[in-house]
Amino acid sequence: MSAPAGRAHRVLAATAAVVVGTLAVGMAVAAPSSAAAEPTLGELAAAKGRYFGSATDNPTLDNASYTAVLGSEFNQITVGNTQKWMYTEPSRGQFDYTKADQIVAFAQQHDQIVRGHTLVWHNQLPDWVNSVSAGDLPDVMRNHIANVAGHFKGKVVHWDVVNEAFEEDGTRRQSVFQQKIGDSYIAEAFKAARAADPNAKLYYNDYNIEGIGSKSDAVYNLVKSFKQQGVPIDGVGLQAHLILGQVPSTLQRNIQRFADLGVDVAITELDIRMRTPRDATKDAQQAADYRTVTKACLAVTRCVGITVWDFSDGYSWIPSVFPGEGAALIYDEDFARKPSYWAVYEALGGTTTTTTTTTGDNGSGCTATYRVTSQWNGGYQGEVAVRNTGATATARWTVKWTLAQGQTVGNLWNGVATTNGQEVTVRNANYNGAIAPGDTTTFGFLGSWIGTNPVPATITCTSA
Ligand code: XIL
Repeated sequence: MSAPAGRAHRVLAATAAVVVGTLAVGMAVAAPSSAAAEPTLGELAAAKGRYFGSATDNPTLDNASYTAVLGSEFNQITVGNTQKWMYTEPSRGQFDYTKADQIVAFAQQHDQIVRGHTLVWHNQLPDWVNSVSAGDLPDVMRNHIANVAGHFKGKVVHWDVVNEAFEEDGTRRQSVFQQKIGDSYIAEAFKAARAADPNAKLYYNDYNIEGIGSKSDAVYNLVKSFKQQGVPIDGVGLQAHLILGQVPSTLQRNIQRFADLGVDVAITELDIRMRTPRDATKDAQQAADYRTVTKACLAVTRCVGITVWDFSDGYSWIPSVFPGEGAALIYDEDFARKPSYWAVYEALGGTTTTTTTTTGDNGSGCTATYRVTSQWNGGYQGEVAVRNTGATATARWTVKWTLAQGQTVGNLWNGVATTNGQEVTVRNANYNGAIAPGDTTTFGFLGSWIGTNPVPATITCTSA
């Protein structure tokens, strides 16, 4: 079992490490002046006026390694299952909020906002609803919304009022609501939700509406007509259950056109699935895809936030619904952060690389670019790219940085390392001192960390 990966745990661990280091070495081990933790995804998103959240489900709340991450990394939570009709009104007129209340309480304890999910949907609908008469169904639907949205009034910032009401070709899905109430059921649901919780933002939520196409056109027209008729709607949720390498090229344009109608947009259920097992190539593609989605949201002011559909590959719905596929999230099964995590981190403005230019005898010198290429509990792999920015070839080069948070550098390849306290010096190996002008050579290493592992504030490169 790996160590807890939650931020709170890591900060505690950092403090312990400093104390141990000082006692064991018995000399000046400069303690970091503050815990200077890396920001969380939630903090990075908040700095951009957004949220970055995760869905969760009740069974996982008993897993301490899981909740350590859930409670610290995200500033928003979606109730993944237990606000759905089958849980909240399992039999007609009998409401049960026990499970959903547990998740909402967790979120409140961790200063996380909650998206409510979902009031009217054809799935996870108890059987009894299907046998309600056409005459009764409008009242049954309104009563459900009044009770559920009424119970969570003031506790959810958004409601997914209606979920998945359209077919791929843009026609209405023939759900029991569509068949027995007709086209008006969506507007009726939104009006009932507004009455029950006037401060919650009301969303229409669906999948395969991330890019421009027949289905998203239908949602676009629905929102447009609601706006014209004064039916209350505040947002569109793009679920974004995506496939590796297939982020729609029109994603940003689509978000923008909804925003231009005067509604907010949220990425509500993001995951990017691949054929399992993972490998480095797929991980890199997935990281690029997560980066694209995050940047598309940040590019549109009215895109208010992103929610991943749970955060760890061990707790994803994908493998059970898409056999042979999975690894769709930003943490692996053991809560280690994947390249996708770092892509989101970077897209949200977090720093994962440092580059410094220095002069050298070969003209304008060299640059060293430091990057953590993967990180897991207690360990990391780093890489430094040395680029000749001078006019003549280098004969040798030297790169230096400081391990400011008590990290270590262990095995290193394509270079020769010496460490002096916190100072790391890497010189070229006997075969890669010569770099032609404009070319780059790279060395890598494995290291350990505890507490936090930020990239160094500065790194120097000198060449001759
Ligand atoms: C999924 C849950 O993650 C599963 O645990 C459950 O068995 C089925 O529903 N679109 C939605 C979500 O709006 O509610 C679905 O969640 C995934 C697809």
